[in-house]
Amino acid sequence: MDFKEKVAELFLSIEKEMTMDEVVQMIEIPPNQDMGDYAVPCFKFAKKYRKSPAVIAAGIVEKIGRHEEFDKIESAGPYVNFFVDKAHFAEKILKQAFKEYKKYGSTNIGEGKTVIVEFSSPNIAKPFHIGHIRSTLIGNSIHKIYTYLGYNTIAINHLGDYGTQFGMLISAYKKWGNTEVVEAIEKNPIPELLKLYVRYNKEIETYPEYRDEARYWFKELENGNEEAHKLWAWFREVSLKEFNRVYDMFGIKFDSLAGESFYSDKMPAVIDELEDKQLLKDSEGAKIVELQEYGLTDAVIQKSDGSTLYVTRDIAAAMYRKKSYDFYKNIYVVGAPQKLHFEQWRKIIELMGYDWANDCVHVMFGTVSLEDGALSTRQGRVVFLEDVLKKAVEKTAEIIEERNPNLENKEEVAKQVGIGAVIFQELFNNRIKDYMFSWDKTLSFEGETGPYVQYTYARTCSLLRKAEIEVDDNVDFSLLTDKESFNVIKKLEGFKSAVLVAHDKYEPFYITRYIVGLAQEFNRFYHECPIVVEDESIKKARILLTKIVNIVLKVGMELLGMESPEKM
Ligand code: ARG
Repeated sequence: MDFKEKVAELFLSIEKEMTMDEVVQMIEIPPNQDMGDYAVPCFKFAKKYRKSPAVIAAGIVEKIGRHEEFDKIESAGPYVNFFVDKAHFAEKILKQAFKEYKKYGSTNIGEGKTVIVEFSSPNIAKPFHIGHIRSTLIGNSIHKIYTYLGYNTIAINHLGDYGTQFGMLISAYKKWGNTEVVEAIEKNPIPELLKLYVRYNKEIETYPEYRDEARYWFKELENGNEEAHKLWAWFREVSLKEFNRVYDMFGIKFDSLAGESFYSDKMPAVIDELEDKQLLKDSEGAKIVELQEYGLTDAVIQKSDGSTLYVTRDIAAAMYRKKSYDFYKNIYVVGAPQKLHFEQWRKIIELMGYDWANDCVHVMFGTVSLEDGALSTRQGRVVFLEDVLKKAVEKTAEIIEERNPNLENKEEVAKQVGIGAVIFQELFNNRIKDYMFSWDKTLSFEGETGPYVQYTYARTCSLLRKAEIEVDDNVDFSLLTDKESFNVIKKLEGFKSAVLVAHDKYEPFYITRYIVGLAQEFNRFYHECPIVVEDESIKKARILLTKIVNIVLKVGMELLGMESPEKM
């Protein structure tokens, strides 16, 4: 049982009508140590007892009496403040952490449940650009958090490998695809395909009929035209090669690449089912689902030429996933601009009578913009993700060269730190916030950054090496009651809840903030309390604390998708 629960239990023994949950909700963490470690405000009892909250608080303190877990329990105005017994607290937390080791932040809430996390999902033949960093990294972290909590997780990259834009590319290629162009594409696929795409979009302004030609070629692709299919398969292959370079740098792996094209043959069944359930209406030859009575715009399911749409493929995908994985949750990590799309899609699934529509979650996030205006693939204004990563690694290599030229494994460390810096900064804020991409910020290593956390981790590794003792949890915990040690231990106690909140809210940034906070507390402790000292009992106690911080920092970074070099 943890201390917060103990507080709740003591409180419950007096306020018997409340539930455990209700009391836990009420418990606050006071802003400073003089007010104790936990506090319960008594305002809400004033009405019931017709007494002032302060009188009630004093009464409760009297009734609770003394308990070994707490140094003192006292009232201060309307609050009941609990001061934990520091040695007792240290022993409980550190022993538990030492026993559970890398599982210390975990619980078993995920047992027996399958969760799909769909993330990244770029469009093929288009740049994998800085805008994709968000879904890729937020999704990767959510996937790791769910896996850590015991869920059976499936990572899906729902590739955008289908749709009218491929009609455009095929048509462009057929118009301008001479040998020179083919060679250029082989050498440098995405930028060259992008050029075709940009040119096509531009020429549409002069030749509006190009729009129809593009539609024609997409329709041909859907119909299984061999030439169209071959070109499309080639675009897909060269694109994937490029995406994989970025995934490799991030260390990201997917269980499934079933993207939009995977569902092309599953569309007729969806349309039949919608038809059977009388959800389709004709609208100038197209088939739509009317959604206005739900405050949404109508959704086009099939165009008048018979081709299907993005939303149709998403309906097919959700049904397929339910059937194949029987998911407990189906999570889509996709930007906020697609909010309406996912609302329409969910409503349609609901109207089809599937109650699992409620288990589908759109985890959205704000947009990334560039300092000199919006990202625009169509106008060819992009920052490639791969370039960002390469630049971050180069800059890190320079810093290492400057500060620690004799470091072993320099290149590997530069990669881990440079990429770690990018990941950390991406996951530092609330995901819904829009932000402006800035090279300076991404490449800054000062203050609350990834390299700072990694550096702290490397420091713990070095201390553990230097101590030259077998770490165990048989130590004198009364040696860990000074302010700095206690603050580290309190921080450690909060790891589980940081992971849980990140899980509940689909917000990795709770973990980012947590680990940087832990690193700061540890560094304060390190500066005040020499660790590798003569006195064996002090050394043993402080090394145990260092070991637990070492484990938690490592797990925390893993949950964000960062690596943790042992020497920096
Ligand atoms: N490929 C889409 C894009 O780049 C994102 C796909 C999101 N996932 C989905 N199931 N619709 O905008």
